[in-house]
Amino acid sequence: MAAVGSAVGLGNIWRFPYEAGQNGGGAFLLIYLLCVLVMGIPTLLAEMTLGRMAKTNSVEAFRRVSKHPVFSRIGYLGVLSCLLILGFYTVVAGWTFQYMWESVSGGIVGGTTEQFAQSFVDFSTSPFQPLFWTLLMLVFTHLIIIGGVQKGIERASKLMMPLLFVLLVVLCVNSLMLDGAREGLLFLFKPDFSAIDSGVVLSAMGQAFFSLSLGAGVMITYASYFEKEVNMPRTATTVALLDTSVALLAGIVIFPAVFTFGIQPTQGPNLVFVTLPNIFAQLPWGSVWSFIFFLLLALASITSLISLHQVVTAYVEEEFRVSNRKAALIVTCAAGVLTVFASLSLGVLNDLRVGGMCLFDLLDFVTAKIMMPVGSLLLCVFMGWRLEKSALLNELTNYGTLRWRWAKVFVVVLKYVVPILVTLIFVNELGVFKF
Ligand code: PFF
Repeated sequence: MAAVGSAVGLGNIWRFPYEAGQNGGGAFLLIYLLCVLVMGIPTLLAEMTLGRMAKTNSVEAFRRVSKHPVFSRIGYLGVLSCLLILGFYTVVAGWTFQYMWESVSGGIVGGTTEQFAQSFVDFSTSPFQPLFWTLLMLVFTHLIIIGGVQKGIERASKLMMPLLFVLLVVLCVNSLMLDGAREGLLFLFKPDFSAIDSGVVLSAMGQAFFSLSLGAGVMITYASYFEKEVNMPRTATTVALLDTSVALLAGIVIFPAVFTFGIQPTQGPNLVFVTLPNIFAQLPWGSVWSFIFFLLLALASITSLISLHQVVTAYVEEEFRVSNRKAALIVTCAAGVLTVFASLSLGVLNDLRVGGMCLFDLLDFVTAKIMMPVGSLLLCVFMGWRLEKSALLNELTNYGTLRWRWAKVFVVVLKYVVPILVTLIFVNELGVFKF
């Protein structure tokens, strides 16, 4: 459940629809699903296997299994990814608080599409308000990490996650009755193959790794707490299945509404925050629906934030032998500085650009489209080539007590398929070679 908590979050409900919207809808979805199946599930399983085998933080895990000067250091990349993701993810998580607040203060009902769009832009580019919510989100995460109230969160998320799922299903039904339902579904499910270019493929791969929290050490850390009888192939498949269903549901909620209310599907990170208020505005008791939805979304993002924070905190704690509190404080401060700049980069610091991107976009791009795929590639090479095959298979099958008929295929996928595919997608994007 904790692994599902990490995987399901803003990546599914905020990032998936806007990436799909920008990358041609159906074509993106098709490649995304293929990436989850061919690369995501195997990488997830590889992370789990390493975590349970090494039973330690994600940096030490690699060191424990290999003394190789390069391979033993792969874990650092993951820790850095988590810190950088915290930098922008916390900002978006903060936005969900603003929308919860607006639901109770009456800002959600009674507007037009243009008004909703304008109020989102006004809010997200203003200096103080988003910063306030972002830092509040960070403080919450910090308190959960140091307070040992994980148990409470665990219990809460066991209830809230299914509720989020049910609410999404209800909203799906509502969206399917909208005038633009047909157009929206066609956009999401009918692949236009001419829309596929290297950027679409890179985005879909990045989204698959991002959504499953891969290549950043999260699943290594979480699996280090697994019992020895956990059926990992089944766990990995379940996590991937639940995560992908939430993304699909979010797509079915969003795109019919996008076409009904005349919203541009390509508008990027704003998409969901403009579309959802439109949906709630036309529902009876709209502000109540809206409040519950953003509350559940905030919770889903907190369980992801905890996983990101925990990877870095566990590393700092064990590497520098400091207390959990001190480690958490260091991480919160570092993440705090990043989030302040990321949030301001959408407004007052928008002119500060690297490669044409403001800091917020840069953090998103570098982590999801470069660092997580590279981290996953290195992990697969590590597990496929550095580790004894027998050790890998023993851990995977719980020392022979579990029969898993895909084991041989899995080894081939780790050794060849993931490394080759990720490399080809990079080479293709860089334009060195056009496939
Ligand atoms: N998978 C999370 C989501 O979809 O919202 C985001 C995430 C969490 C990415 C943890 C990476 C990570 F290490």
